[in-house]
Amino acid sequence: MKKLLSIALGLLASAVAGAQAQTFPSKPVTIIVPFAAGGPTDVLARTLGERMRASLGQPVIVENVTGAGGTIGVTRAVRSAPDGYTVSIGHLGTHVVNGAIYPLPYDLLNDLDPVGQIGANPMLVVSKNGVPAKNFKELIAWVKANEDKVTFGTAGVGSGSHFSGVYLQSLIGTKARYVPYRGTGPAMLDLVAGQIDMIVDQASNSMPQVKAGKIRAYAVTAPKRLTVAPDIPTADEAGLPGFHILLWSGLWVPKGTPQAAIARLNAAMVDGLHDPGVQKRFSELGLELPARAQMTPEALRALQKTEVAKWWPVIKAANIKLQ
Ligand code: MLT
Repeated sequence: MKKLLSIALGLLASAVAGAQAQTFPSKPVTIIVPFAAGGPTDVLARTLGERMRASLGQPVIVENVTGAGGTIGVTRAVRSAPDGYTVSIGHLGTHVVNGAIYPLPYDLLNDLDPVGQIGANPMLVVSKNGVPAKNFKELIAWVKANEDKVTFGTAGVGSGSHFSGVYLQSLIGTKARYVPYRGTGPAMLDLVAGQIDMIVDQASNSMPQVKAGKIRAYAVTAPKRLTVAPDIPTADEAGLPGFHILLWSGLWVPKGTPQAAIARLNAAMVDGLHDPGVQKRFSELGLELPARAQMTPEALRALQKTEVAKWWPVIKAANIKLQ
């Protein structure tokens, strides 16, 4: 009798789960952005989220949960119910680098299930307009001559802007100071105001200010120049060969989220990335879309593993201290 009852309950539970998965989503979906509003990750989440709303038939809410280089926001997502209604947006910094720096209360590769990659952009080395350097070589010389005074704005230890700054300084042999913000959105405001000297920032965040002449750009961390900024040299061309960083972003959900919900979220994400309005906005910001085959959950998982193998040794060698 007991055996029959547990079989019946098991069948009932899977029937309910099945029905729920069929009707997913039946309420708003929340994307947790681990950085401040107005920054590059926030812009990605809001631009894509707005378009995913149409495919999902439910509102997509963006919640900014900031701090500790993005680990606070990712922790919140990891600890959320695995039902598809909480999505973690992040990137090379939050979902790879932080695992080599922080004693994280979660396993980056196993406590989150990938939904898909959403885009990538190289970093730009930018400074406030007052910096007395006309090109990248002069900027590097200026940092070397003033390393006790120069300040790099970052979005916190382990963030894209932080580990890119660490990587740059490890290549030019300097130890200038980092000024942490809750995102490169607020850091950019202080760079424009001349409160800090430099940021190694996502092109998507800096381009509007560079175009407006409010900050200066010296080099892009990619083998090829940006289509939207053909006048900005690559680091290879500008005198620091090999300084390459491509900051890719993706979506994840808590481990154990039903496959049907992940498939629905991925389909809405892919729809959004094929939307002409989203594509126009992304290209204006210098964001590259992944190839169709790279938009699958499996492709994001494979990318994350490859990048862990590539960056953890570099990050560990840099011996980054938690401030
Ligand atoms: C942000 O959205 O503020 C950035 O992604 C932060 C960073 O990683 O530099």
